[in-house]
Amino acid sequence: MKKILFAASECVPFIKTGGLADVAGSLPKCFDKEYFDVRVILPKYSCMKDEFKDKLVYNNHFYMDLAGKSLYVGILEMEYDGITFYFIDNEYYFTGEKPYGDILWDIEKYIYFSKALLSALPVIDFRPDVIHCHDWQTGLVPVYLKDSFQQNQFYWGIKSVMTIHNLKFQGTWDIKTIQAMSGLPDYYFVPDKLEFNKDANLLKGGLVYADAITTVSNTYAEEIKTPFYGENLDGLMRARQNSLRGIVNGIDYTDYNPETDKLITKNFNAKNFRKEKIKNKTALQKELGLEQNPKTMMIGIVSRLTDQKGFDLIAYVMDELCQDGIQLVVLGTGDEKYENMFRHYDWKYNDKVSANIYYSEPMSHKIYAACDAFLMPSLFEPCGLSQLMSLRYGTVPIVRETGGLKDTVEPYNEYEGTGTGFSFTNYNAQEMLKTVRYAEQVYYDKKREWNKIVDRAMAKDFSWSSSAAQYQELYDWLA
Ligand code: ADP
Ligand code: GLC
Repeated sequence: MKKILFAASECVPFIKTGGLADVAGSLPKCFDKEYFDVRVILPKYSCMKDEFKDKLVYNNHFYMDLAGKSLYVGILEMEYDGITFYFIDNEYYFTGEKPYGDILWDIEKYIYFSKALLSALPVIDFRPDVIHCHDWQTGLVPVYLKDSFQQNQFYWGIKSVMTIHNLKFQGTWDIKTIQAMSGLPDYYFVPDKLEFNKDANLLKGGLVYADAITTVSNTYAEEIKTPFYGENLDGLMRARQNSLRGIVNGIDYTDYNPETDKLITKNFNAKNFRKEKIKNKTALQKELGLEQNPKTMMIGIVSRLTDQKGFDLIAYVMDELCQDGIQLVVLGTGDEKYENMFRHYDWKYNDKVSANIYYSEPMSHKIYAACDAFLMPSLFEPCGLSQLMSLRYGTVPIVRETGGLKDTVEPYNEYEGTGTGFSFTNYNAQEMLKTVRYAEQVYYDKKREWNKIVDRAMAKDFSWSSSAAQYQELYDWLA
């Protein structure tokens, strides 16, 4: 039996800001339980829902030395859906309304988390064969593991995997501060280790010291070796290309199932969507105060409102788009400029645009179920889960061909009768508009063709099964 520990800063159902939480919460369930004992460790945030906080069970506590200070490390645990989750408890670090905020404070928090989770292993008596780290917040785990922890035999031979969910976020600050916070010796703060343009970079530490690196799609694995997508780490990505591979994300096919989803108005499946899916649209039109017309093409967006997601393209052609016979439903929070942009168009085209500037799991499901199409014109997209959720609910994705979007959405080909969505190549607003209008044309003028696209979209399998098998292979190869 191989033991695997997932270390992550967010994880469904406990705490979520984006797709990382979906992956950390849904992937561990999908491994072969006969051969793999997979557990998850994350911080115990005070902003977690009470329904979960109340169920955490005290496991242990101890004091850990970090950069000359002695710090409390509490360990709580909970079993959920057959998986053991451990929570690192320290109220000094993990209070606040959201998991992330000020970057310097976040850096300090996750340095503590990285060392604390390693220190906790003998205490909980779990010696993983592989620690699977996710994103910059756990970047120091492979570094600490190869450093002072080697003085203790318990840690000998533990392997680490670093998965890049988003290369843009790296946890970078000046060397002096990070050295003082982490207690790591000078040895690490040089250009072939943690140093990065004269600063220190936590993710880079993980990428240098992990035994294997993965990212969440094949295309992104290639893209990050180039300067445009490489976020100044493309050189390192090229240097480590033999240890780097792409494994595309899946989604939880139980939570995201139009046939059983309790959060949507009317359940439907691949056979009856022609009659039933539309009831979700009319219900949502009513709920959001849009013109109530089952025939109108409804386009959805569920997203963090950041540059990454291509909102500059949308902003650029929003007036033109709103001249068309469509409705646009947006759910998201993030940069104020995009929040206000959507609020403005909601006001200007009140019966056509609905801007929902908040975070809501139930509303996201309603949108995936109700819309005809889903717009995701990302500037870059390591994988993207929203388009997978859309495919599952027969909502046709319109995407830019980048990262995981390129790997998971097959463009409609009217001559061959293939494809599950619509896509365009260049980061160009007119190109996007043209593609949306092509989709409109198929939707309105060739309904049977449109429904066949939906058929093919719903027939795709983006559950975790094949990707979980690839992670298993990787673990087997490592340890
Ligand atoms: P990213 O991780 O870059 O944000 P993904 O597409 O991988 O993008 O994952 C986003 C996840 O967050 C999806 O599960 C999506 O439904 C969810 N999500 C994003 N914004 C919201 C919101 N405002 N309310 C509810 N869910 C949201
Ligand atoms: C990141 C990426 C997104 C990916 C998610 C889960 O947040 O932006 O593309 O799907 O992580 O891997």
